[in-house]
Amino acid sequence: MKKLTVALLAGAATLTFAATAQAEPDGEAIYNQACMACHMTGAAGAPIKGDADAWAPRLEKGMDVMYKHSIEGFQAMPARGGHMNLSDEEVKAAVDFMLEPVL
Ligand code: HEC
Repeated sequence: MKKLTVALLAGAATLTFAATAQAEPDGEAIYNQACMACHMTGAAGAPIKGDADAWAPRLEKGMDVMYKHSIEGFQAMPARGGHMNLSDEEVKAAVDFMLEPVL
């Protein structure tokens, strides 16, 4: 019986952790770590954060496409910015942070 309680508690702790981890990924921190190298400098032709002209034609494709291309990659844009450890939610949070000034 004691063992079962411990297992249940451990299970509950894992669930709580997963729920908080998913709640709100820090888009700014992820951008700084995974996207900034290209999207601050324009390296490889990357649209620069805050450059409304560069983003306007891309935004016309819709946010779903922005998310999809960030996750799966698009031409010179590597999938997940080359950080395959990022979850879809984390990549989306970075997209939201990056596009926030031009939306
Ligand atoms: C190695 C450089 C590099 C890194 C790192 C990088 N990008 Fe990009 N990204 C690019 C380039 C280059 C393009 C332009 C691709 C094109 O239009 O040919 C691009 C385009 C995009 C687009 C527009 C896609 C479209 O359909 O027009 C989004 C959104 C984007 N990146 C998000 C991100 C996010 C989010 C990250 C971090 C998780 C990231 N990028 C990291 C180089 C990079």
